[in-house]
Amino acid sequence: MCGIVGYIGQKQAYPILIKGLKRLEYRGYDSAGVGLINEYHKLNVYKAKGKVLNLEELTTQKDVTGCIGIAHTRWATHGEPCQANAHPHVSQSGNLALVHNGIIENYALLREQLQQKGYTFKSSTDTEVLVQLIDYIQTSSHIDLLDAIRIALHRVIGAYAIAVIDRRQPGRILAARKSSPLIIGVGSDEFFLASDATPIVEYTDKVVYLQDNEIAVLEPGKALKVVNLENEQQLAEVKKIDLNIGRLEKDGYPHFMLKEIFEQPECINDCMRGRVNKETHEVQLSAISEHKERLLGARRFIIVACGTSWHAGLIGKQLIETFCRIPVEVEYASEFRYRNPVIDNGDVVIALSQSGETADTLAAIELAKEKGAFVYGICNVVGSSIPRNTDTGSYIHVGPEIGVASTKAFTGQVTVLTLFALALSKEKQLINDTTYRCIIDELEQIPEKIKEVLKQNQNIAELSRIFTYAHNFIYLGRGYSYPVALEGALKLKEISYIHAEGYPAAEMKHGPIALIDTEMPVVVIATQNAMYEKIISNIQEIKARKGHIIALINPNDTIISKLADECIEIPETLECLEPLITTIPLQLLAYHIAVCKGKDVDQPRNLAKSVTVE
Ligand code: F6R
Repeated sequence: MCGIVGYIGQKQAYPILIKGLKRLEYRGYDSAGVGLINEYHKLNVYKAKGKVLNLEELTTQKDVTGCIGIAHTRWATHGEPCQANAHPHVSQSGNLALVHNGIIENYALLREQLQQKGYTFKSSTDTEVLVQLIDYIQTSSHIDLLDAIRIALHRVIGAYAIAVIDRRQPGRILAARKSSPLIIGVGSDEFFLASDATPIVEYTDKVVYLQDNEIAVLEPGKALKVVNLENEQQLAEVKKIDLNIGRLEKDGYPHFMLKEIFEQPECINDCMRGRVNKETHEVQLSAISEHKERLLGARRFIIVACGTSWHAGLIGKQLIETFCRIPVEVEYASEFRYRNPVIDNGDVVIALSQSGETADTLAAIELAKEKGAFVYGICNVVGSSIPRNTDTGSYIHVGPEIGVASTKAFTGQVTVLTLFALALSKEKQLINDTTYRCIIDELEQIPEKIKEVLKQNQNIAELSRIFTYAHNFIYLGRGYSYPVALEGALKLKEISYIHAEGYPAAEMKHGPIALIDTEMPVVVIATQNAMYEKIISNIQEIKARKGHIIALINPNDTIISKLADECIEIPETLECLEPLITTIPLQLLAYHIAVCKGKDVDQPRNLAKSVTVE
């Protein structure tokens, strides 16, 4: 959370920084700020509460000139969202400005020590401590900014990606990272820096991923210099990135979320491309071919993830257990990392993450590696921290997901988990050829079937109006549909702020059924699979208590269509592939309810896309 951007070169920095902030706004939008040094060495810092647009309004008529600048969009951790707590923070001397993504855990102690030295603080953030500490070290020891930063970072406990400018030296930006992402774009006679590649790709495809405990010195006209905290020169490996700029725009859709929902047929095709052989209909995942022994020898899989990715993990468990007959545990990364789990070198940990930056998932990976497990990452953002910290893995290749509520990443993760389970099952000779072919053939049909569901967008939009004033929702499913129910409920609550619960349908009678009355909409995933008869009974139980049932059914259903108050028809598929289709109408339902309620769909309150703090 929080996004940082920086520019130094021959161009005016401000437009580049503002555009960059807009691309990073998904990481947090509590406040935004920019710091620029103009040609007279004046440091101009502007900050506004709320979104980048507010910052733009604030800076009209202000001096925003300068070819060097840093900027920040904030997701509050320490200190309420307000102008004073917005970044950049300026040092007491007025010389330094700093932006930060992460958390300084020992900030209270450092703050006290600095106050004793006469420093006063204008904000209640942990970040301001860092800029004052660097300032104190620099002014009291009369040393260069790079050395002051090195010394300060030695004293800091926590996570950070920072960028610092000094008005007395407008020819350079210094940047450093530990456990928070930071990418440097290398242009000709100019440098960019950002929390992810999206603000950079428009200008250069050459990037350097800064590593933990590294400090970069960005000085146009000179090669990028990277040192560690001991001032030893580090290799700045320049990589080429391939990111389609078109995918960063809304393309005529009113929201990124809707665009991303509609992209799913194409995304699933992209995800299968090169992995499902069109002629032989075989699945090949390079990570499995390369690490066959380790993966075939796994005694257990442990899937670690958070939020929507955790829901995808629950589907992965069913797929892997069904087809590979290996036990799978699915853990919240935040719980796993703190409970001294029993893991050994017979375990394979699968880390699922769209962003590849989630702090808890990264920490779970570290723990798993320490205990000897082999770690397989399934991520979306190429070059992000998780893929760089795992033994192997597979990207989901769904392109940038900008809407804060995850949609296409979920179906991408489920697609990769399906391919993973099928490929491993084949290697283990546990799946017969007919079943294997049948699943792959059907998987190849999924994008077309999703398109069928998407045609109902307008119907779902109309249906949504009925529920604009609902205060609660229940989502029910069984088997493969249970995680989809959880995901449907999460989508609704995060963008419409309606309280929603997902449950395994049969669990209703053990408590939640007490909630059912005429006011309670209940979404039931009721496709014609092995659980069909059971789900009919569950629907009867809700109907007997006058709950309002919205059922997802197959087109030829004649029973539930009569029982439910509203129905959404979805094409039939194999039970193990159903989540890829049943998720879509639930995403649309959540989207349209939120739109009807006038909510900020792409940037819901209190949320951020990359949760880089624990
Ligand atoms: C929900 C959502 C979050 C993320 C979670 C994990 O729509 O987006 O619940 O799924 O924060 O993020 P990643 O997958 O980036 O690790």
